[in-house]
Amino acid sequence: MIEHHYQSHSSIWESRATIRSRPRRQIEDDGLQYYPAERQPLCLHPLIAGLGKETEEFILIQSLYKYINDIIIFETEIVNRTARSIAKGQFPFEFPFACRYDAMSVVIDEDYHAYVAMDYLNQAQERTGIAPIALPAEIELSRAIPRTLATLGEQYRDGMELLAVAISENTVTADVAAFSRDASIKRSVKGMMSDHLADEGRHSSFWIKLVKLYWANIDEPARVALGSALPVFLQQYLTNDIQADFDRRLVAAIAMPEASRRDISADMVRSYPITKRHPMMVNIVKFFKSSGLLEHTPTRAALDAFI
Ligand SMILES: [Fe+2]
Ligand SMILES: [Fe+2]
Repeated sequence: MIEHHYQSHSSIWESRATIRSRPRRQIEDDGLQYYPAERQPLCLHPLIAGLGKETEEFILIQSLYKYINDIIIFETEIVNRTARSIAKGQFPFEFPFACRYDAMSVVIDEDYHAYVAMDYLNQAQERTGIAPIALPAEIELSRAIPRTLATLGEQYRDGMELLAVAISENTVTADVAAFSRDASIKRSVKGMMSDHLADEGRHSSFWIKLVKLYWANIDEPARVALGSALPVFLQQYLTNDIQADFDRRLVAAIAMPEASRRDISADMVRSYPITKRHPMMVNIVKFFKSSGLLEHTPTRAALDAFI
């Protein structure tokens, strides 16, 4: 039996989990946007801005559809794969019961977030009459996780998956927080984001506590192996290939001369260089610090370029 000071979040979950406490979000007629224009650089391109309001609205609603679709993939295929295996005692590390029980509450929350997202997608589609263009079947993590695991010995793969989920749960929280504060978007979208945020705050600290407990109880070769795989994961995770591909398909769905499409494509925002200055690194580094990973000298050295 491992030694631990893990405290369950179950009493807070009982009173505050959004599945237990929040009403359904319904789309209202407030004339506001479905998605923040500043999160979709395509809207700022002069050749697109020149096409008028209706084109901008088309781009924004499609961007919301993609965001929602990404959430559904993230919750059901990435987070819940790991959370469920911990909850059911299938994860190859003996987590105390309180961790497993809390992991099951995460599974419920995430499935509920996916449900809320599907409900909203359906409402938005009915209200606007705009169907989504083909949505991606994967998110960055769908590729980043297996590619990182492939570089590791079999015995370290579950641990790496746990770290990847904990990192991404901590970045998603910051992203949802920024979204929920945006003044340009519909109240119902903001409401959906702030409901999600209420649960994700609890999840962030759950994953931090879990990683702390795990990291303190694995052996040194495991820590060294996982630490050295972290930069591989970050390189794969922080790309924007899927977003760029989606944006190109979105431009293809708008009526305009082929020459304009080529110009827009050439001007598309390149991905941020994957260094310590990448915008997502602030929260990732915070996670590395709070989970204790940086206290391990070889891991700290492996992450040198990112911290
Ligand atoms: Fe979630
Ligand atoms: Fe979560």
